[in-house]
Formats: sequence, structure tokens, C-alpha cells
Amino acid sequence: MKKKLFIGGEWLEADTYFTLKSPYNGEAIAEIPMASEQEVDRAITAAYEARETMARMPAHKRWAILDSLSRLLEQRADEAARIIATEAAKPIKTARAEVDRTVQTYRFAAEEAKRIHGETLPLDAAPGGEGRVAYTVREPLGVVGAITPFNFPMNLVAHKVGPAIASGNTLVLKPASQTPLSAYFIAELLEQAGLPAGALNVVTGSGSKVGDKIVQDERVKVITFTGSPPVGIGIRNRAGLKRVTLELGSNSAVIVDKGVPVSKIVPRCVTGAFSFQGQVCISLQRIYVHEQVYDDFVTEFVKVTGGMKSGDPLDPDTDITAMISPGDVSRSLEWIEEAVDHGAKVACGGKAEGNVLEPTVLLGVEAVSKVSCQEAFAPIVLINKIRDLQEGIRLVNESRFGLQAGIYTENIHNALEAAEKLHVGGVIVNDIPTFRVDHMPYGGVKESGFGREGVKYAIEEMTELKLVVFNRN
Ligand code: SIN
Repeated sequence: MKKKLFIGGEWLEADTYFTLKSPYNGEAIAEIPMASEQEVDRAITAAYEARETMARMPAHKRWAILDSLSRLLEQRADEAARIIATEAAKPIKTARAEVDRTVQTYRFAAEEAKRIHGETLPLDAAPGGEGRVAYTVREPLGVVGAITPFNFPMNLVAHKVGPAIASGNTLVLKPASQTPLSAYFIAELLEQAGLPAGALNVVTGSGSKVGDKIVQDERVKVITFTGSPPVGIGIRNRAGLKRVTLELGSNSAVIVDKGVPVSKIVPRCVTGAFSFQGQVCISLQRIYVHEQVYDDFVTEFVKVTGGMKSGDPLDPDTDITAMISPGDVSRSLEWIEEAVDHGAKVACGGKAEGNVLEPTVLLGVEAVSKVSCQEAFAPIVLINKIRDLQEGIRLVNESRFGLQAGIYTENIHNALEAAEKLHVGGVIVNDIPTFRVDHMPYGGVKESGFGREGVKYAIEEMTELKLVVFNRN
């Protein structure tokens, strides 16, 4: 299968291609175009020229396009899930869940298209403001440059494409090189849904060529990026006066307080740690458990982890499969080894077969070990003992990152204290930090980035507030 670039409403061949291979078995999946600088320029020009059409499009039409997209995707959900499972090595049941979420994200975007509004202002609150009427409106910024990661190749594209179209912007989208097929699939559906030519352009290729051009071109007014902190920081430094939203990584943690019924919460924690091989920005990487329930928690956690089935991503029973690249497997093994050198104990896992790393549970991990203080993005979780809530909060906050954190507690005062003191973008009480539904504000503090996604919040990032004042004097 040879894919084409999607520019200005046309499917175009490129001069050069690379072979996309399955992370699970190395088989060739498709030939993917490598856009040249001229082709990226053409994509930006197309988006730039389409911006008036999109800015003038009435809300009900933007709603209709996005609503139709969500229906088309729902009809082809099986095909969509197979695309994700094949290119990302995401277990098919997890891929299906991602498609369901993507349908919802576009539905939220459709709904939000009808709710973009400003407010009226009582200007006479200030001396000199009498006799004036004022209101605000939100206007699209124009061309959005979207750079998306491999781990949610459909839904994280939706978190950029959905709000951009809902708010009358146009896009140049560069999906991750490992998972371009999901983005091209959505482009096909959007074409069928009636999106005007040039409103969405999809260009694949090297980060330095395609990504840099999008980030630096003056016609692009917003950059929305999900990916690693070093790349995000590089984008921020080169983006000039553009609006920038960065959804970066984290080493997300949960605190388990005393008195919590361990058997009730462990299956959920195991899911949070190992879903999609831990390659999730809010994957549960650090678990801090009160000493009164620590031993029971660890025993139960290891037992549930042992019941996970590894295998082919397309097998409906598979829980764990290949990581995205061999390099990530060897890095993860090195990090496990380092933690053990620092004194940690491997409670289960710790080995790899091919690209499949066993779900790995580490106990008593030092804060300086990379599996604790850096983002593992792997099926690795640490479980450490704490004496009290305050120690748990301190350990969660001792991090360069701050995306989401969870706390399980039966004590309302402890829940409120954690909500106040945890330095993160979202505190999840009585659930894992991995919890996300697609209309909630989502984003981080510290090196986890800035700006918020979640359709309504992304729309705020992609629009400009304009003030209109009428003088009646
Ligand atoms: C992410 O990995 O940034 C997204 C997580 C999610 O949407 O569940």
C-alpha cells in the first residue's frame, strides 16, 4: 500500500518514501511519503488560502462536518482499530477503546462549534466608560500547525483537528512517523464529510524537515504539539510569537492511603501502569503506598500483573505486546538494571523477548533512579512504601513533571489536602492519574508543558479574544 500526501484537497505522490514496519513482527505495512520542504510549503499555502473560507463558515456547517466525521468513524470503527493496532502495536481491545474515544472527541468538537461565544461587558463600571456598550467575540487564529505522537495516533490527532475545525481554523498536520496511517484515514473521512479543500493538510516525513518548517513558517499562527519534553522545548524556542500548546511527558504517580480496600483498586492500578505497554503520558509509573496496606497491595499487584497475556496486538486476548521500537526496549532494560544497582527489587518482569518487555514491577526504588525521576514510557512501575500522606505528597511533587496525579483515600480531609498540595495539572481522587475523558481540561505544569487540551479548552488556545466597543454618547 502506497500512501499519498494530502495537500489542498488533493492526494499527491512524493519523490521519496519510507517503509512503515510493524513494531510487533517487523513486516512491511505501507510505503509512506516523505514530504520535501516544497511540499510542506505547499501544504502551509493551502491552509493559509483556505483560512478565509473556514473563518466565514457558519457554526452549523462546522458542526455538520464534525458530526458527520464522528458518524463515519463510528461506521468504520473496526477498520480504524485495526489500523491503530497494526501501526502502533496497540492491543486491539485498547485500540477499539481509542476509536470509541475518538468518535466522542469529534462529537464534543461538533457540539463546541455551536458554543463559541464571548460576553457583554459593563463598561460603565469605570469612570469614562458611561454610554458605551461592549462585547467580546472569539475569532480563529488562522493556520494551526499540529504535531502528534505515536501513542494515540487517532485520538490525539482528534484533539487537534477537532477543536481547530470547530473554531474555524485550518491545519497542517504532521503525524508521528511511526503511526501515519491513522491520520491519513481521518483525512479521507474528513474529505467525505465535506471539509473544504485546504482546511486540513497532512504531511509526513522527517521531524527536522517537516516539523521545523511548520514551526518556523510565519503563516502558521498556532503550534499544538504532543510529545517529548526536549522536542517540545525546542519547538517553544523556535516558535517566535506563535501561540504554543505543549502536552509533554510525566512520571505520573498515585498515593494509596491507609484503610483503602486494596483488592478493589489493584486491577485499575495495573491497567494504569501497563495499558499500551506504559506508552501513555499519564501512565502510572510511581505508586506510593501507606505502610499499613503496602504488603497486601504488592502481593495483589504482582498476582494481577501475572495474569496479563502478552502476544500479537491483533489477538483480542492480548494485554501486552511490542513496544514501539527496539531502542525503547533496550533503554527500558538499562533503566531497570540501573534501579536494581541502586537497590531496587524486581517483583516481576524485568526481561524482554524481541520487542515485548514483560510488565515489570520494581520495589523500593531510589528517587534518583531513572525509572523514578524520568519518564519511563514503558511497562515499568515502581511501588514504594510511605509512612503518611505528607510523605506521599512530597514524593509525588519531587518531580520535573506535573501532568496528573491520583490519590486513593477514604478520608475526605486527606483528599482535600492532596488536591490542594499536589503540583500537577489534574488531581484525580479515588482513581489513577491515567484517567482521562475527552472534554475535561488536560495539560500539565513544570516540564509537562503548558496550555490545555480537552476540546473547549483547546478552542480557547486556538482563538483570539476580540473586543468591540460601541459609543452611544
Ligand atoms: C497522552 O498520552 O498524552 C494522552 C493520554 C490519553 O489521552 O489518555
